[in-house]
Amino acid sequence: MAGIIAPSILSADYTNLERDVKLVEAAGAEYLHIDVMDGNFVPSISYGPGWVKQLRPETKMMLDVHLMVMNPEKVVDEFADAGADIIGVHVEATPHIHRALQMIKNKGVKAEVVINPGTPVLAIESVLDMVDQVLVMTVNPGFGGQKFLPSTIEKIAQLKAIREELGYKFDIEIDGGVNNETITAAFEAGANVFVAGSYVYDKIDPTAKIATLKDLIK
Ligand code: DX5
Ligand code: ZN
Repeated sequence: MAGIIAPSILSADYTNLERDVKLVEAAGAEYLHIDVMDGNFVPSISYGPGWVKQLRPETKMMLDVHLMVMNPEKVVDEFADAGADIIGVHVEATPHIHRALQMIKNKGVKAEVVINPGTPVLAIESVLDMVDQVLVMTVNPGFGGQKFLPSTIEKIAQLKAIREELGYKFDIEIDGGVNNETITAAFEAGANVFVAGSYVYDKIDPTAKIATLKDLIK
């Protein structure tokens, strides 16, 4: 099955956001990846639910909200009400991962659990039966433009094997360092949703970049 591209607006031009959102939508991106950072779980601070609410009517793309915040259960309702279609919470960010995922599902939003490069698949095994998507971080979270970590590929394969063995249905997303050179190995290992920030938005021609990536995950 063909994969899905989720451009990360973290790397977009913030003074031309509407243009940059519409550009990737016209190029065929299905999801828009929104990196929410709290200055605590990760050093940077980005945007909040008010911003997602304003963005919502501007696009038909699925809003894929990646919460890089401590204790995400405190804010998931607000992001759901703002119009998120998918909400991802890091297992490292809360002692209450099950509750956080339940809260997302109770809002009728797709629930995603996220693991950092240093976190094993074992850490999320007991919630895999309840998630719609698993996000395997392929860089350490916090910044765009980092190098893809090949050691994360094995975790994609493990998740695919568990999904097959136990009959689960979650999608497998990757985030960080995705470009025309790194996407194929992850696709072959079993990932089907691909976040791409700097590769799509840096330098020239986001439209051609998306076409190149889509071609590699057909
Ligand atoms: C990193 C963010 C990513 C980031 C990816 O913490 O979660 O979504 O935007 O950027 P690239 O594709 O440049 O690695
Ligand atoms: Zn992200």
